[in-house]
Amino acid sequence: MATTQTQSVPTLEPEDPQLAQIVEEIRAFMVELIERHRITNDQWSAAIAYLSELGERKEFHALSDVMRLSVPVDRITHEDQEAFTPSNVEGPFFLPDAPTQESPAKICPDDAPGQHVVLRGKVRTADGTGLGGSVIDIWQTDAEGLYDIELHQSMSLEPGEMAYRARVRTDADGSFEIHTVKPKAYTVPTDGPLGVFLRKIGRHPWRPAHYHFRIEAEGRPPLTTMLYMADDPWLSVDVIDSIKERLLVDTSSGVVDYDFVLAD
Ligand SMILES: [Fe+2]
Repeated sequence: MATTQTQSVPTLEPEDPQLAQIVEEIRAFMVELIERHRITNDQWSAAIAYLSELGERKEFHALSDVMRLSVPVDRITHEDQEAFTPSNVEGPFFLPDAPTQESPAKICPDDAPGQHVVLRGKVRTADGTGLGGSVIDIWQTDAEGLYDIELHQSMSLEPGEMAYRARVRTDADGSFEIHTVKPKAYTVPTDGPLGVFLRKIGRHPWRPAHYHFRIEAEGRPPLTTMLYMADDPWLSVDVIDSIKERLLVDTSSGVVDYDFVLAD
């Protein structure tokens, strides 16, 4: 007769207790969903294959955005900051090494199609003190809704050459002036797994037109945000649900005055 040996199973303390709790909550919720919707092996295999392809195409960032998860995370990260310019999500089109320009800067060709716009204002504190030497990363689409990474052929850009984006250094009092064009609404990528997902669940892929900004000033946390065109028809149905009233601007006069107020 075989003897039974009792062996104590070592218990591991999680290195990250919050993550361990979140994983368990996700698991329990997924089991509930699997049972409620009677998910089969075939459906589960298709979901795993889909997520694998999404990773290969580097579309997880965009999925987080269109699942409308990036915006609540950003809101939690920046709560209690009413005195400052509202933050917003970075999106997938930021490039860290855009060309640096002094203010006044021009980030589009002289003959760029579309409405030409001057963005001007100050990077400052809540009490009005200018933050001289701040750097404003700006990136946007052209007037047809295309980013430079999509414009390489039509603009005859050299490999690595950029357009409609720059790192603009403000004046000594924090003032800036950026000459550019009004951007246009565009769709998140629809030619890969993200597009498949949106079609499957019946969601449109449109983002209202916007300028992106990432602003760095010494001794302050950087501000990442967007400014939206107040007349854009897609504002109320933004696919990533990121619109904030205080980030709407009117370009109809060709000049937009906007101060960026950085947190302490
Ligand atoms: Fe964008």
